[in-house]
Amino acid sequence: MAQTGNFKSPARMSSLGQGAAPASAGAVTGGKPREEGLKGVDFERRGFLHKIVGGVGAVVAVSALYPVVRYIIPPAKKIKIVNELAVGPESDVPNGTGKIYQFNEDKVIVVNHGGSLTAVSAVCTHLGCLVHWDEAANELACPCHGAKYKQTGQIISGPQPLPLKQYNAKIGDGKIVVSIA
Ligand code: FES
Repeated sequence: MAQTGNFKSPARMSSLGQGAAPASAGAVTGGKPREEGLKGVDFERRGFLHKIVGGVGAVVAVSALYPVVRYIIPPAKKIKIVNELAVGPESDVPNGTGKIYQFNEDKVIVVNHGGSLTAVSAVCTHLGCLVHWDEAANELACPCHGAKYKQTGQIISGPQPLPLKQYNAKIGDGKIVVSIA
């Protein structure tokens, strides 16, 4: 059975003329003012929402930037290493000319000088510029710092420390075939 004898409502207290003023309407259990308690809750909720919004923003930013980054930095192509490769038709390199082909991981220049076909790396051993065939001077020339090489890759002059790497070149079935020397 409920006890009613000790019940002290503010109305009853004032009607009885007894003491203390009624507790504030803003009080919460445990003596903590309601506003203060709610401020804490509000602050926690805001912090949580900030985290959610930040997380969603980060996901959106990453998903938007990923394709751009992949476009700018494409994945490295896997090059199949072979001993021999038909790089192009014989007509590609007429007498007195040279042409650069991709061969394994190197760029190779095939030169036709008086019908003699040679292939050497086209990558200058100085700082990596690509050489070209200068038929008039009968040499491979680097446009960057003036390195000169013989058709077979040996150094003629310039700042380069090493000769050009040599490959084999021949005609087979009407095609230029480059192979590892
Ligand atoms: S890169 Fe060829 S001479 Fe410097």
